[in-house]
Amino acid sequence: MCGITGYIGYRDAYPIVVKGLQRLEYRGYDSAGIMMFDGETICVSKTKGKVSELEKITDLNEQAKKGNIGIGHTRWATHGVPNDVNSHPHNSMSGDLVIVHNGIIENYATLKKELISRGYSFKSDTDTEVLINLIEEVKKQEGCKLGKAVQLALTQVVGAYAIAVFDKSKPNEIIVAKLGSPIAIGIGKDNAEFFVASDASPFIEYTKDAIYLEDEEMAIIKLNKGIKVRKIHDDSLVDTKIQELQLSLEQIEKGGYDHFMLKEIHEQPKAIIDTYRGRMIPNEGIIRMAGVDDNIEKFLNADRIIIVACGTSWHAGLVAEYLFEDLARIPVEVEYASEFRYRNPIITEKDIVIAISQSGETADTLAAVKLAKSKGAFVFGICNVVGSSIARETHAGAYTHAGPEIGVASTKAFTTQITLLSLIALKLGKEKGTISKSAFHSYLQTLQLIPNKVEELLKIDEQIKYIASVYKDATNCLYLGRGFNFPVALEGALKLKEISYIHAEGYPAAEMKHGPIALIDENMPIFVIATNKGHYDKVVSNIQEIKSRSGKIIAVVTEGDVIVKEIADHVIEIPETEEAFTPLLTTVPFQLLSYHIAVMLDKNVDQPRNLAKSVTVE
Ligand code: F6R
Repeated sequence: MCGITGYIGYRDAYPIVVKGLQRLEYRGYDSAGIMMFDGETICVSKTKGKVSELEKITDLNEQAKKGNIGIGHTRWATHGVPNDVNSHPHNSMSGDLVIVHNGIIENYATLKKELISRGYSFKSDTDTEVLINLIEEVKKQEGCKLGKAVQLALTQVVGAYAIAVFDKSKPNEIIVAKLGSPIAIGIGKDNAEFFVASDASPFIEYTKDAIYLEDEEMAIIKLNKGIKVRKIHDDSLVDTKIQELQLSLEQIEKGGYDHFMLKEIHEQPKAIIDTYRGRMIPNEGIIRMAGVDDNIEKFLNADRIIIVACGTSWHAGLVAEYLFEDLARIPVEVEYASEFRYRNPIITEKDIVIAISQSGETADTLAAVKLAKSKGAFVFGICNVVGSSIARETHAGAYTHAGPEIGVASTKAFTTQITLLSLIALKLGKEKGTISKSAFHSYLQTLQLIPNKVEELLKIDEQIKYIASVYKDATNCLYLGRGFNFPVALEGALKLKEISYIHAEGYPAAEMKHGPIALIDENMPIFVIATNKGHYDKVVSNIQEIKSRSGKIIAVVTEGDVIVKEIADHVIEIPETEEAFTPLLTTVPFQLLSYHIAVMLDKNVDQPRNLAKSVTVE
């Protein structure tokens, strides 16, 4: 996820674009760049690091701030490490076309090969430089204008994009296009100025009139003339509605949500798709993941897998234990990274160590990675932040591609980590023959349906809000689950603790009778996961045990459940799915519940006390 912004009009473009980039920094801050055009000269400035680093460079160069046209970018690296050269904007080989891009061009390698055979050379490792040269090549071959060239080039592209393109020979125009990544266009009075951005925050103080492009649409923005929006594939004109922006600046920075946490909860359907996009092809029965494919023998011959992680990532590791053992029949141990490194663990060269970390910077996990490497294990990293320390330190790995997670309480990181781990477990299960071909196909089809089911689940927000209002004053809560959903109980309790400061514990449901049952009375809310697969009957018995001690039961059940409905005080229904994938659904109501309780208690949801997003101390 990256942020793009642009301006064309009568004002100085530089301060508008740079301020816009600062507002979009939540989308990534690996590098920043800007192109300015003063009517004669294209001037591109770019650097690794935040927008503040970019400003240090442009402060030294008068030309870098000159002109009424500018496009800018703040990067969250996907293809190519975050360095100055890979930063956007990117010029075409002639230097006359300039692009900023948010997204991933999946077939960039094929396109690049073709362009190299036609004499193109590349400065960066990015997919974006391939796209701008493809546009240049199409423009040359077809003898067409920029708009047509962009359109034709995009029909050759597989992947996701929001782009803004400038052509020196068309100095009154900016072309934008969208598929998968957002883009908004702000419209100034009398078409005398236009703004382009990943969300409306960069231009909210200049205009309230905006157009949001839909997928597969492109817009040709012409100064003093107006905007034409077309469908990329069939060239038809789109009758676009101008929307009046209602939101405050602060809300817009959070994409219209009150808090980043809520936004990130709602981003999960897309984040899960982004995790499996290009890796899982259900119709062909394929899972591919370079980090695993390139080391497949190591995975297949491993004596065991040791997972190291902290916090929410550790909970995802616990889910993975069930996944790997069930689907691929590989023994798994899940370790708190902080404990692992301090107890002289027995690790051999036949062990695979998987380190899971959203930030990729957690000090304990990083130290565990180094320890495992020093003992000869093959170490695989699962990180969200591209180019992070753990991603660099591990022998191989895979990114979750969840996009920046800003809320301190991890939400989409958890579900995307589980998605990625499911893909690996399924792939190994298939390769080892521990799951049949038909079961493998069926798992893939089912996993593909999860994002829609999460989307459905998010619609029960009002019901969760009501349950939150009933239990917000509790001082202690229990979360219970079994099998695949035991880790979800732990995660549910952690979410409640960290943002609402209510004491909560997660337990395997059957363990309750070995101690915690003593806590139960009529004031104790107990959240129980009782989905219809796995140990349903046993969990129902556990619920009966709670009921006989007057505990309040809030049960997460599968749609259509009748038995638990009779006993529980409240039921939250999740859509039907494979048992192995239920954690991707059962966790969502608990995220929403913690969120609403924290809001009702007036807590700082996004920055809870004493916590930080990335824990870089031991
Ligand atoms: C909980 C939370 C933390 C992190 C933990 C590990 O909501 O965010 O428990 O999960 O600090 O962080 P990463 O995954 O960045 O290593």
